[in-house]
Amino acid sequence: MTQGPLTTEAGAPVADNQNSETAGIGGPVLVQDQLLLEKLAHFNRERIPERVVHARGAGAYGTFTVTADVTPYTRAKFLSEIGKETEVFLRFSTVAGNLGAADAVRDPRGFALKFYTEEGNYDLVGNNTPVFFIKDAIKFPDFIHTQKRDPYTGSQEADNVWDFWSLSPESTHQVTWLFGDRGIPASYRHMDGFGSHTYQWNNEAGEVFWVKYHFKTDQGIKNLTQAEANKLAGEDPDSHQRDLRQAIERGEYPTWTVGVQIMPAADAATYRFNPFDLTKVWPHADYPVIEFGKLELNRNPENIFAEVEQSIFSPAHFVPGIGPSPDKMLQGRLFAYGDAHRYRVGINADHLPVNRPHATEARTNSRDGYLYDGRHKGAKNYEPNSFGGPHQIDRPLWQPVPVTGVTGDHPAPVHAEDNDFVQAGNLYRLMTEEEKSRLIENLAGSISQVSREDIVDRAINNFRQADGDFGKRLEAAVQALRG
Ligand code: HEM
Repeated sequence: MTQGPLTTEAGAPVADNQNSETAGIGGPVLVQDQLLLEKLAHFNRERIPERVVHARGAGAYGTFTVTADVTPYTRAKFLSEIGKETEVFLRFSTVAGNLGAADAVRDPRGFALKFYTEEGNYDLVGNNTPVFFIKDAIKFPDFIHTQKRDPYTGSQEADNVWDFWSLSPESTHQVTWLFGDRGIPASYRHMDGFGSHTYQWNNEAGEVFWVKYHFKTDQGIKNLTQAEANKLAGEDPDSHQRDLRQAIERGEYPTWTVGVQIMPAADAATYRFNPFDLTKVWPHADYPVIEFGKLELNRNPENIFAEVEQSIFSPAHFVPGIGPSPDKMLQGRLFAYGDAHRYRVGINADHLPVNRPHATEARTNSRDGYLYDGRHKGAKNYEPNSFGGPHQIDRPLWQPVPVTGVTGDHPAPVHAEDNDFVQAGNLYRLMTEEEKSRLIENLAGSISQVSREDIVDRAINNFRQADGDFGKRLEAAVQALRG
């Protein structure tokens, strides 16, 4: 069935889409061939800057359903009733690779979730790991530089990776996690998700709770070994993206059971770990995971560029009843994402179909800019106004938190059991003998590529401080590989 004539961007019919117009037979091409010029010019502008991190990813729409009453903890409307459903869009990703990188690599996976709630979009921009490499946003650009391509060699370099990690002992926990079995998920469907940071929930009465989100895969955890991943990355670079799309096409909708750890605000100051330190978990024995929802992905995007490449997620997108914590990493992220979106997609990125609110509308006085679509028509563009314009609600989305002391470049406060190694050691000791062996093999394989002995020693020493046996075995494995 034909859709009618092919046209130019201006809608005029195209006579010939095979031959450009020339001066005579075999002569040079004419500038009056506007179709040719338009096609070449449009093609040159098809790409936008890729995400500076998490460039490689895949997304899908779905539904979040509330399964337990959390109204004692948060007044967020989309969480107000058991059975309530909210549309979502989730983008999975890897961190370090460029847009065309292979999926099956050892790297954290992004787990960026947008809830289209009736009070605006709530974005939870998490990972498949409960912790992170660093605990202060000021270190993030340096950290990412070591994960990306070296300015001279143009490749990722083990020297840079291990130089930074070994000089940043707080990374030991996350690195132990990353080089363990879960460091290469078999697919996006077979891994858990985490909000990772601590966030604030506040209820109708204004009480504050600190929370951590958990998304447990109902497909079961499945991972790839390093050897399996090396093979798959070469044979099918798009393995994760294809797996997700095809599962949804088959009607096998992946689901996650959603839970939350809840800490009453009063516990935070005296908790044995700094509850706002992203390199630490809250042991479940201290704060059990309470199930409260089900997440299902059930619809593929129709256009990857429009809906995945141009999708934007920001940790600063909160709704009433949910807010930030004083986690220094999170505070940095509250700035970084909106700034990235304005650069990468443009000032009207929030208004693209995948990004705009679906269950309410955005009512701002911001206007114009590149590619403004005129959606506000003739409405007044200032506030206060007496023409019935939108007005403030006089209730903050989140509750204020107490602060003390003087301004300064303060490290985050250290609590009774805080140090950079205790939880890395606990993770190691939890592993079975086989898991430990694979962890040591993976780490040794990477560390043995480092060119400088002092970096190797410093790297091993961090794991030795986490657990004596861990350090000893790693040292032996690295020595065996380096000869
Ligand atoms: C201070 C530390 C961090 C900074 C400055 C930072 C910055 C960024 C930036 C600029 C982007 C690209 C955004 C875009 O172009 O749309 C991004 C993407 C992303 N980041 Fe971070 N990031 C940080 C830490 C984290 C942490 C701790 C997590 C997880 C817990 C995380 C998860 C993600 C995810 C999932 C994406 C991809 C979002 C998408 O799918 O569009 N980041 N980050």
